[in-house]
Amino acid sequence: MSKPVSEIKIGILGGGQLGRMLVQAGKEWNLDFYILDESASFPSGNVGAGFVTGNFKDYDDVYKFGKDKDIITVEIEHVNTDALLQLQREGVEVHPNPASLNIIKDKGTQKLFYKNHDLPTADFQIFESKKDIFLALESSTLAYPFVQKSRLAGYDGKGVAIIRNDNDVLEIMDVPSVTEKLVDISTEISVIASRNKNGQIRCYPAVDMEFHNKANLVEFVYFPSKISKEKQKEAENLAATIINELDICGLLAVEMFLDKDGKILINEIAPRPHNSGHITIEASITSQFQQHLRGICNLPLGDTRFHSPAVMVNLLGAKGHSGKTKYSGMDECLQIDGASIHLYGKATTKPYRKMGHATVLDKTRAKATRNAKQIKKFLKIHT
Ligand SMILES: Nc1ncnc2c1ncn2[C@@H]1O[C@H](COP(=O)(O)OP(=O)(O)OP(=O)(O)O)[C@@H](O)[C@H]1O
Ligand SMILES: [Mg+2]
Repeated sequence: MSKPVSEIKIGILGGGQLGRMLVQAGKEWNLDFYILDESASFPSGNVGAGFVTGNFKDYDDVYKFGKDKDIITVEIEHVNTDALLQLQREGVEVHPNPASLNIIKDKGTQKLFYKNHDLPTADFQIFESKKDIFLALESSTLAYPFVQKSRLAGYDGKGVAIIRNDNDVLEIMDVPSVTEKLVDISTEISVIASRNKNGQIRCYPAVDMEFHNKANLVEFVYFPSKISKEKQKEAENLAATIINELDICGLLAVEMFLDKDGKILINEIAPRPHNSGHITIEASITSQFQQHLRGICNLPLGDTRFHSPAVMVNLLGAKGHSGKTKYSGMDECLQIDGASIHLYGKATTKPYRKMGHATVLDKTRAKATRNAKQIKKFLKIHT
């Protein structure tokens, strides 16, 4: 990009909390942002970016939105890539590149990418329908237990079914899907890699992720990771290899499993800021959001070191509450030293909806964990 950064027009497809935090980070440098999504009442509707109402899955909406921008980026993978390819041909910079988005947004092609590049991932098969899965079970070419994942548009655990035995077959989804061997997981980790057009790559250190058992989404993220330094390095090297192979500028979050045999397996990737990276806002020298902007604008990448042990907790909508959002318990939370609370400004709440997050810094991971659990107890998001 030959323009000075302050003159670059950046378009973001998606107006959720990731877009909101990306804009907030870029405001530090007075960057010029525009958002495309269906309603300005979404989290990025009121943070000082130009807001265009439209559907990021629609060719015309994306094309029209992108035409006068210098750089287009995304906060979600499920966008119209045909329009992005056309914009790219007309000289708009698109990061992540649309070809990589096409691979990533389909869990089938994503798994084939790992296989074709000899990257470690759980064994898998691809199926067109529920009927084909039943046929494979009958002929014993597929065996319990397995995990079924919808090829398209799954996020936050929707579109993932764990099938352990005959009793679970009602859970099998009738959609084109991938089935994977059920991994005996010891730890779920994430590494966020970043890259710019000059080919510079920097990875954040691995963090551990703990999942909410009902909501099937990440609830706690921990730094430092408890896995060995050697395995952390291996995970970082894998993340760096993938971002390079996919020629991605900006961020690539790589979710991995460390299994009970000590093997690292790639679960899935996301070419954008990621929930496991929110912890970097306070705990690392460079936040993932600023790093994404450095990557897509081809600026030098920032320092990815953490300056403190930290824990992030997602703040979810309370069970049994659907409707206009209210918060309680802020006073108690703000008394906790080392805690930072982020609320995404979602007008309505529902059970387990991601409404915000908190990050707690402390001298040790154990102390930060205790306070993060206090915040989860105090802060209630209800109607
Ligand atoms: N092969 C597997 N073996 C064991 N557990 C798995 C396997 N695949 C997925 N899981 C579990 O299901 C969770 C969700 O799977 P995955 O990350 O593929 O779905 P997702 O819908 O994209 O979720 P999210 O958006 O929350 O990251 C994983 O984090 C893990 O806990
Ligand atoms: Mg996932």
